[in-house]
Amino acid sequence: MPTNPHDALRAWFLGPRAENAELLERLVIESLRDHVFWRRNYHPEDGVVIREVDKRQEGYEEAVATLTQELMGLLAELKRDVPVFSGRYKGHMIGEQTIASQVGYFATMLYNPNNVAFEIAPVTTRLELEVAAQLARMIGYDPARHWGHLTSGGTLANFEALWLARGVRYLPVAVAGAAAELGLDLPVVSMSLWELLNIPGPATLDLWDTLWAAAPRADVRRALANHSLAAIGYQEYSRRLALAYGDPLPAGVVLVAATAHYSWEKIVRALGIGSNQLVYVPLDQHFRMDPDALWRQVRELARHRQSVLACVSVCGTTEESAVDRLDQVLEVRARAERELGVTFHVHSDACYGGYAAAVTRRADGTRRSGEEIRAGVGLDWPSDDWVRAVAALGEADSVTVDPHKMGYVPYSAGAILVRDGRARQLVATDPPYLSPGEPDASDTERFLGRYILEGSKPGAAAAAVWLSHKVLPLDQRGYGYLIEQTAVGARGLHAALDGAKLGPFRTVMLPLPDINIVCWVVTHPALTTLAALNGFNERIYLRMSLARGDSVPEYIITRTRLQTPMYDGAVDPVLAGLGVCTPDQWRAAGAEGLVVLRATVMDPFLAERGPARDHITGLVAALGRAAEASLKAGQAG
Ligand SMILES: Cc1ncc(COP(=O)(O)O)c(C=O)c1O
Repeated sequence: MPTNPHDALRAWFLGPRAENAELLERLVIESLRDHVFWRRNYHPEDGVVIREVDKRQEGYEEAVATLTQELMGLLAELKRDVPVFSGRYKGHMIGEQTIASQVGYFATMLYNPNNVAFEIAPVTTRLELEVAAQLARMIGYDPARHWGHLTSGGTLANFEALWLARGVRYLPVAVAGAAAELGLDLPVVSMSLWELLNIPGPATLDLWDTLWAAAPRADVRRALANHSLAAIGYQEYSRRLALAYGDPLPAGVVLVAATAHYSWEKIVRALGIGSNQLVYVPLDQHFRMDPDALWRQVRELARHRQSVLACVSVCGTTEESAVDRLDQVLEVRARAERELGVTFHVHSDACYGGYAAAVTRRADGTRRSGEEIRAGVGLDWPSDDWVRAVAALGEADSVTVDPHKMGYVPYSAGAILVRDGRARQLVATDPPYLSPGEPDASDTERFLGRYILEGSKPGAAAAAVWLSHKVLPLDQRGYGYLIEQTAVGARGLHAALDGAKLGPFRTVMLPLPDINIVCWVVTHPALTTLAALNGFNERIYLRMSLARGDSVPEYIITRTRLQTPMYDGAVDPVLAGLGVCTPDQWRAAGAEGLVVLRATVMDPFLAERGPARDHITGLVAALGRAAEASLKAGQAG
């Protein structure tokens, strides 16, 4: 375990100039040789299939030549890929991969385990569950109660979170119907539909246990199938509920922070909830979900007896890396339960920012205070509120956190974690082949395919994350240090852009980021309309990205378009700084939105003024050149 993370950081990555090439090469060769020995020693009595003499045949040599030639072609093609390893890359949520994850992936890929079932991946299924337990511990879940696993990414992890949440929210309705059918005298049988949909999470899962204990398993299984949404499907379900309860409630909604990743729209569409039921909660001026607005929204929905399936808050927004005040979101739910008799599932989409929880952990797993972290980082970051918000992850019903983002591992690796692991039973499906036996058999717990949306999935991804977590612990010595460094770098970049002397050009900054994504707009006195300003910033982006495809930019950034109504209010200070339109005019301009330049600082070396090029100064200078060229291009066009 690293005793000096500053030094260890230099061994964690291949390095922008492949400085650690020898190390990586040694470990890759070691992994390959070890695999080769395994094959050679596995039933050596079987003899060889490919003999030396076969290798001298013309057809063999031709096949080798084709392979070599085509590989050279692929290697040449790959040079046109995106140089995410470089300090010049500040684009999407991707940086270097740790050497540990590269080697872990490579070594395991040779064995090609499939984590859909432990019977074809006995080692890596265990590693996957260990990784989930490590992440769960980092965010503060009770190890004895949680459940989690890896997914292909954040979209899938979020999908599963809402899939499970919906299962939990509708469970009392299914239990009430099943209990009535079985003649069981449970209190849920006499509840109204509204009451059933507002039973708090842990109590709903207790109902599940109660039902299975109250009647023979086969009867419960049959009765649940007659009353569960999963078996019946939305169309028929709503009809039956209206008949049974005489109470056709309006469709339940999903509340999401207005910054929510677009995957949420896909998810509500795919789950049949419908995108009209996705309700955006306004933001404050730090681009965080506004808890007062959330309360007003929940109160209004309760007035119309419209149930809330889930509230999705974000830890590390895609655009700005903003960290919602999850602690306050949870307070809103507690208040709603107390004052309105209303409850909902609270999910944190920490796909991007989840690993930042490592910043709050000491080596022994205890929490660091804001003051302690700030003293270590040497900056006025993070605030005590930030620490409270991140610590609250442990109280959310589910959390998604992507190793393939700030876990610095190769694609594809997302993760879903649920606080009460019993929820997974609600989505369990048994295939006829691979049937593991009774649902509570211990080996079933390792049969991931039973509980997850995906089928075949790479054990290599699990091994990559596992090895990376071994080398970079999920606390202040490992990922915590790494992410602190990116936050320091991002703040340095923010300050440099804010104070940049770019001649007639002026930068207007979005607030200091909660983690490490810096956003800004460039303006010039000649740009007097919103459309002209947006066009100009769009041209800067084209010059500073691979989007044009015909030239290699000096530095690579991205851009985003902040839209009404999602960003209403939050963008007002930025609009005031730009002075081309009022917030009302901006809203009236509709889809025009506001084009904002965006730099994701996953590069842990940006913070350092080392012997190599200073990429903060470099990026600011390149921005100035891109601004000049973009203004000219706009005038010419
Ligand atoms: C906050 C957030 N959630 C979810 C996702 C989706 O993740 P993925 O691209 O791995 O599916 C992203 C991707 O950028 C994200 O930023």
